[in-house]
Amino acid sequence: MKNQTLVQLVNQLTLDEKIGQLVQLSGEFFHGSDLSLGPQQKLGIEQQTIDVVGSVLNVTGAQVTRKIQTDYLRKSRHKIPLLFMADIIYGYRTVFPIPLGLGATWNPALIQSAYQAAAQEARAAGAHVTYAPMVDLVRDARWGRCLESTGEDPLLNADFAKAMVEGIQQEKGGTLLGIAACVKHFAAYGAAEGGRDYNTVDMSERKLRQDYLSGYKAAVEAGCKLVMTSFNTYDGIPATANQFLIKQILREEWQFDGVVISDYAAVQELIPHGIAADDREAAKLAIEATNDIDMKTRCYAKELRPLLESGAIDQRLIDDAVYHVLKLKKDLGLFEDPFRGSSEEVEAQILLSEENRKLARKVASEAIVLLQNKQEVLPLTPKKEKILLVGPYGDNQAMIGLWAVHGKTEDVTTLKTALQNTVSEKYVHYEPGCPLLEDDSILGDFGYTASGNSSSAAQQDLWLKEALKAGTEADIILFAMGEHSLQSGEAGSRTDLHLPAVQRAFIKKMTALGKKNILINFSGRPLVLKEETKQMDAILQAWFPGTEGAQAIVDILFGKVNPSGRLSMSFPEDVGQLPLYYNHFNTGRPLNSKTHTGRFVSKYLDCSNEPLFPFGYGLSFGEASYHSLKLSDSTMNETLEAEITIRNNSAYSRLETVQLYIRDHVGSVVRPVKELKKYIKIPLSPYEEITVLFTITKEDLFYYQKDLTFGVEPGLFTLFIGKNSAEGEAATFELL
Ligand code: BGC
Repeated sequence: MKNQTLVQLVNQLTLDEKIGQLVQLSGEFFHGSDLSLGPQQKLGIEQQTIDVVGSVLNVTGAQVTRKIQTDYLRKSRHKIPLLFMADIIYGYRTVFPIPLGLGATWNPALIQSAYQAAAQEARAAGAHVTYAPMVDLVRDARWGRCLESTGEDPLLNADFAKAMVEGIQQEKGGTLLGIAACVKHFAAYGAAEGGRDYNTVDMSERKLRQDYLSGYKAAVEAGCKLVMTSFNTYDGIPATANQFLIKQILREEWQFDGVVISDYAAVQELIPHGIAADDREAAKLAIEATNDIDMKTRCYAKELRPLLESGAIDQRLIDDAVYHVLKLKKDLGLFEDPFRGSSEEVEAQILLSEENRKLARKVASEAIVLLQNKQEVLPLTPKKEKILLVGPYGDNQAMIGLWAVHGKTEDVTTLKTALQNTVSEKYVHYEPGCPLLEDDSILGDFGYTASGNSSSAAQQDLWLKEALKAGTEADIILFAMGEHSLQSGEAGSRTDLHLPAVQRAFIKKMTALGKKNILINFSGRPLVLKEETKQMDAILQAWFPGTEGAQAIVDILFGKVNPSGRLSMSFPEDVGQLPLYYNHFNTGRPLNSKTHTGRFVSKYLDCSNEPLFPFGYGLSFGEASYHSLKLSDSTMNETLEAEITIRNNSAYSRLETVQLYIRDHVGSVVRPVKELKKYIKIPLSPYEEITVLFTITKEDLFYYQKDLTFGVEPGLFTLFIGKNSAEGEAATFELL
């Protein structure tokens, strides 16, 4: 189908049919042949709109999507297929680690293959669009949705955004072999004040462009078909009505000509935000901002017609939006095959295939971060020490995390099973130890049945007694602890980022036994683990590691895999430090100030300025050293080369993530103390020594200058190459 034919098609539609294309409803409007009146009445949408609605949200499965599509097309005058969009955030049926774990792989190429696998599973199940990647840069671990982000760095986020879009869409010669990607949440949703979800965002345009936009821009440049607006305001205007964000930056500057969709109910939420008086005004503001699809409200369905008829909006706005939606349907090939090859047979072949499980295990093993390993307690030697496994994640299948909507916990092998399969029950004893939470009620109403971990005081006493008894007979205690999966994710903001109190009390009693203690921490965000660094010999950050997570953990525990994960988000020492990020400004009175000493420098009286574990940090078994940093010149015109020698000082093979940071000492506006500019993840054989060469170009030094132009002024720069953002060799050069 030609684009010209699409224009003709737009012209043939009645106004109601056009408006229908701009409305997205959820599954309850379509399930079954007859529609239930409940959701219709609640939303105030009429049957005639439902008959011509353009897209549906979060319905998947070949059988049901085929049925809905068939029924829909039977009634459709122009045979325009329905679009199925769904949240396939980090895997469909095969669940990969949460994106914050994917960020820790520092391996965009690997993550591209994970998203490719997820897209193939999703396509088989009838999905056409995924609301992914989520690329919101985040600096505040109180925000529960850091689970969905690859972290705090503009460069790393942009690289992952591109990899994810390319993996999801798999575009070859203009054909989408995967499904369409929808980058979200545009823009700056990760900067919600106080880390409280949906909260206000306000920042300078410079900061927005310098730090927060990189992920969305990279996704758009990679050909991402859709963009979802965010819930927050930016500069006093909610993103869904924000013409500066959508019209100026996205459509004009970045030349995005795909579909913009509001987040869930965000059009109508313009009313409580206080920028629209009613549904009509909300619809007007959103369509004027060129937001094409209204997700799950009646605003477009009911108000676009009166807005047009009264002359309050131009016909062109509606036609352009309809064209965007139809163009997406065309690009997906829906006019040729409205099912896109989905079927129960294909599902049976692809979903949770051996190959996808293997990939999930590899990704999980690169996502897990070894945070501490005193006296090289890890790796363990199989069948040597007696292991006691305790804690709420010891025998728990809930390690796929909150946003694995289409994953199934029953596909997950628990840690207990994975351990016992590896070294036999004789060497691994399991005791539940303690519940996940002292009180599940704080999790709010999620239509969710509690984890089964809440328990009576008598039960908890018994668990503790048994764990203590088993502990005395063990050599090593593995603590499988962490957040409840409902404590992070959307609306999962928290102010206390410690492990739940009931778990901490249990750890205190158990570690008093004086055994070797290893913490495996499951969480959707950086937790405050200060106390645990004292109590534990080793700490493994497991995130929510997905379907194959337990097996990946066991691979690391026994040294089959050398851990290589490196944090893509700083772990705070205390929640009071937040927001916390490595690429901050120096201030006029930095801690190491030469002119101000003692009290009058930028610091806390009761806590260090530094994170507990910095951005880029992570350990592997054995040690690697960096030396002999050399620059090709002490001055730079257009390019400069930097080389460093890295030696693996151990008998373990390893994957080393070499990180290059730069500091621009004097700019027309203040520049961060360090910015990641290059990285490479490379294999090192035992005792191998290699030289890594990076080429830096002048563009790598560009930033948004005083007048907001993107460029750089001559001057002094320091370049650091090291294992993480806090350690490294340094050398200076001058940009001419
Ligand atoms: C979330 C989006 C999601 C959408 C559809 C919203 O609540 O913010 O990330 O894609 O729901 O489920």
